[in-house]
Amino acid sequence: MKKTTKILGYFLAVILVLIQFYPTNKPLTYVNNPNGLLENSQVPNHISNLLKSACYDCHSNETKYPWYASIAPLKWLIYSDINEGREELNFSNWNTINKEEKVDILDDISTIILEEEMPLKKYTLFHSEAKLSLEDRENIANWSELALENLYE
Ligand code: HEC
Repeated sequence: MKKTTKILGYFLAVILVLIQFYPTNKPLTYVNNPNGLLENSQVPNHISNLLKSACYDCHSNETKYPWYASIAPLKWLIYSDINEGREELNFSNWNTINKEEKVDILDDISTIILEEEMPLKKYTLFHSEAKLSLEDRENIANWSELALENLYE
């Protein structure tokens, strides 16, 4: 190896070690979510399974972290997606939001799921269990439209 390449390699390795010490707040997880959607609403099993495997890591308090989510700089990107995702929609807080917000979210879900905007592509790249078939997407869209109608009953 050329000397400069070697020095650059050491330099990068040191940086990689050093950034591990940079303090970051890992989004907390909770097992018990008394205000959660699934805890309070009758969601069909096949839909709740899809939501859990394709959405819950970013849109609930029940995030399951893979091992690489503890490593900087990857964890910075992962934590920021989770924080942003939970801010937009947190299924664990479903009972705490008002009817208008629920309407907005359910309406958004049926649109973005058919347009294949969610789950994020960079996520399904590492989570094959989160890949949704067209049928899955249609089922989720139908469920969210029905749940929206039920809010007005
Ligand atoms: C890897 C994390 C991740 C996963 C998995 C994920 N989302 Fe998201 N979601 C986000 C982020 C980040 C945002 C906010 C930024 C954006 O809209 O792209 C978001 C935004 C949303 C929004 C609001 C969109 C808008 O424009 O108002 C909805 C609704 C949503 N997600 C639904 C879902 C559903 C349903 C699933 C599962 C099928 C899912 N998401 C899976 C990270 C995720």
